[in-house]
Amino acid sequence: MKSNPDIKKVIRQHAEMAEFFSGGLTVKKLTAEHAENAEEEIKLNSANSAVSAVKITRPPCSAENIKELEDIAEQTRKCRKCELGSLRKNAVPGEGNTSARIMFVGEAPGADEDTQGRPFVGRAGQLLDKIIAACGLKRQDVYIGNILKCRPPDNRDPKPEEIIACIPYLQRQIELINPEIIVALGAHAAKTLLDTPKAIGQLRGIFHEYVPGLGHKPIKLMPTFHPAYLLRNYSDDNRRKVWEDMKKVLAELGLPIPPRANR
Ligand code: URA
Repeated sequence: MKSNPDIKKVIRQHAEMAEFFSGGLTVKKLTAEHAENAEEEIKLNSANSAVSAVKITRPPCSAENIKELEDIAEQTRKCRKCELGSLRKNAVPGEGNTSARIMFVGEAPGADEDTQGRPFVGRAGQLLDKIIAACGLKRQDVYIGNILKCRPPDNRDPKPEEIIACIPYLQRQIELINPEIIVALGAHAAKTLLDTPKAIGQLRGIFHEYVPGLGHKPIKLMPTFHPAYLLRNYSDDNRRKVWEDMKKVLAELGLPIPPRANR
């Protein structure tokens, strides 16, 4: 039986994406300049590995904050503030390490997330896992949330009134977790958290500041491409851009850059 060329293409892209974010394309894609950087990073990395205390998480979140995070999750499961509340199978409040130094924020749950009530568990989530692994981290080391807690039908863009209704949940989650860096995945997350109309292409690659509520210090925010966008707009250039963004995040946190991931 002849296989569908589109499916073949998707499978190939997915395999190459996996290879890219787990180091397989390293040698093939290195330019002279990249090779020099890579050497530097390997040296840096071996120096770093001599330092035993790599700080992956922050001091534990207080019991009070954890309780409030659980309350927020419960509220989202009962929420009817917008029409998505009556369309969802499950709300997706967010999950992860409440003492995380990095918090990833996506746009909204998709079909898989709606079914499981967990963020980033579909194809885009598998790619996010690879990006996290390429950073030398595990999913359990970070916190993962979304702008919207419920799935928009057919994965359409969030409506402004849905964002307005839902954003207080995320704002409070950010205050309670108080990560050192937020990585905004894609245009919707970046534009919403930074309250800007600028395009993701203009925003990504540089640190911005997310300003939580009164009495909270600004939090560094790195916008980058959404994993689903990467899957749709598959190119070495886009993948490299995401990796460049993540390297900046690691450097800012003083975390080592895994040598196999030098690209
Ligand atoms: N895309 C998102 O933005 N969030 C998810 O949780 C899954 C896919």
